[in-house]
Amino acid sequence: MKPFLLRGEIEGRLGIRSSAIPHARSSRQETRRIAAKAFLGYGPYVGDVSAETFIEPESLLAVQGGTLFYPSAGSDYGDFLTLFHPYLESFVFADLYYNFSSNLNRFRRWSDCGLIESQIVGNAKARVERRRTDSGRTYRFVEPAYLIDVYASSKTKRRFSVTFRRGFGQYALREFAPESVNVFVHRGDSTGEGGSNVFYLSNKWSHIEPCGFLFDKLSTKLVRNAIVISDGSNTQIPFLKERFGATGAEAYQFLRSETFYFADRSFRCAGYLRSRYQPTLVWAVEQR
Ligand SMILES: C[S@@+](CC[C@H](N)C(=O)[O-])C[C@H]1O[C@@H](n2cnc3c(N)ncnc32)[C@H](O)[C@@H]1O
Repeated sequence: MKPFLLRGEIEGRLGIRSSAIPHARSSRQETRRIAAKAFLGYGPYVGDVSAETFIEPESLLAVQGGTLFYPSAGSDYGDFLTLFHPYLESFVFADLYYNFSSNLNRFRRWSDCGLIESQIVGNAKARVERRRTDSGRTYRFVEPAYLIDVYASSKTKRRFSVTFRRGFGQYALREFAPESVNVFVHRGDSTGEGGSNVFYLSNKWSHIEPCGFLFDKLSTKLVRNAIVISDGSNTQIPFLKERFGATGAEAYQFLRSETFYFADRSFRCAGYLRSRYQPTLVWAVEQR
């Protein structure tokens, strides 16, 4: 693994960035190699549209061996590890307040996967600080750090890595190589207290440059045939917005035959996950 170069992240300033996450750079060829037929159809989540969770098999096939990125994830990583660990090779969950000295609910507790390596890169104990400029403006500062766990499935012997990154999600996005994110997740977020107020699924201007036109930035990081998972929170893309009163299955049945367009991508509803606050829909997102 290449050494990391860690610097502080400052809310609202341009030009300070950390080094790339090495394992996020999975090549397309590698992805194709791993995308063997063997995985397809054996997961518990494909094929049954009446279940709480369903993803069209061909969408899962397209992302096999790839990387999942979920900014502002908080503690919402369990479902994604359970669902995608048979298919993906790396997971990156990012949150401003990850605290590696406390007990993160690690995947090691789960049934058929054992932890085989673990390392912390950066200052495990650093916290978000409130700082003040000479002119009196306050801003948040954080030293990014990474907890990187590698697991192996006792059944299949496949290995996958799970990275928890403390820091601003918008900086985490910048660390990915072009076309290296296969699954992007954003849900349960808000503009209110406790929410990030960061709109990855939008192209709105922001006076905080790393937060502006984030969909265009995200799109350069997504592979050609990616999955985007959203519950409609913190988005300005009309067809991704919340559907109160409908289950995921109902929303999927309603949307599945239509193709939508935003920026340089087409979107087709390809499934749904267990609802949290509102239905979480799975979109097959392709470069136009
Ligand atoms: C409303 S919570 C949602 C958490 C999770 N998505 C869920 O559904 O449970 C928003 C999370 O974003 C984190 N957060 C706020 N601003 C952030 C930022 N700029 N970058 C990364 N995480 C951020 C907070 O620490 C919090 O855990």
